[in-house]
Amino acid sequence: MSTDDSTIKSYSEYAEKWATHMRSGKNIAHEYMEKPSMYARLPDLKGRTVLCVGCGTGEECAHLTSLGAKVMGIDISEGLIEYAKKSYPNLEFHVMDMEKLDFPDATFDFIYSSLVMHYISSWEKTLQNIHRALKPGGTFLFSTHHPVTYGAQRSRSETERSSMLGYTKHYDTHTADVVGDYLGTRKIDDVWFGDFPISYIHRPMQDLMRDILSSPLTLVDFEEPKAIEKCKDVDPSFYEIHQKIPQFMIFELKKN
Ligand SMILES: C[S@@+](CC[C@H](N)C(=O)[O-])C[C@H]1O[C@@H](n2cnc3c(N)ncnc32)[C@H](O)[C@@H]1O
Repeated sequence: MSTDDSTIKSYSEYAEKWATHMRSGKNIAHEYMEKPSMYARLPDLKGRTVLCVGCGTGEECAHLTSLGAKVMGIDISEGLIEYAKKSYPNLEFHVMDMEKLDFPDATFDFIYSSLVMHYISSWEKTLQNIHRALKPGGTFLFSTHHPVTYGAQRSRSETERSSMLGYTKHYDTHTADVVGDYLGTRKIDDVWFGDFPISYIHRPMQDLMRDILSSPLTLVDFEEPKAIEKCKDVDPSFYEIHQKIPQFMIFELKKN
């Protein structure tokens, strides 16, 4: 199953708000956890050809370009790509589904993808396409949802947000109260920022690892990023939670 139509539509309709939010520095999870870890992993990209998969409104493409890379951004949402083109007229963007990557073999030195892989239910085709599009020795760096957090039972209200995964086992009645479902694969319907409906796929680590280990790419590194020190002053509770509980994970794969 690929990204569902209603999610693509949501992203397209939300393009302006998405860009404003991304550029405000107020997206705590991106700004103080995921991007610092992803950007710290970038090699010297001067003169390198880079593909940014699921580039949204183009902020990461601008960053990669500032490091001297020749960057192309692709995204499945027409609205986001249109906004990216308007924002960064000197950069190259295309509407493209990552499950149908269409490039000549060995086009890119480096492929980057931030928080996109959880929109598809199998990584097999995408990893094959990425392998084909990479030059030998090239790297695919991507971040995605961590199944420990997204397999939990999550709820939000005006005053709080919770994420619970665990159980209470009652010896007397031989019953258990189980909260969350880590092992069950499912589509999760969510609402972000109060008004942005979105769906993504939860899969346990064994399924994700199986896709990676059976792909032609080689896994060379893995990280569960923590919130960075600077987050303490901006959002102390986010900092505290994400010293102990992962929200995202990062994979680095290589083409031999
Ligand atoms: C959470 S946003 C991340 C955007 C950007 N990478 C960032 O971190 O700010 C996920 C992005 O993935 C894109 N996307 C979802 N499914 C996709 C697919 N099958 N192919 C390409 N892009 C996809 C969405 O349109 C959206 O721009």
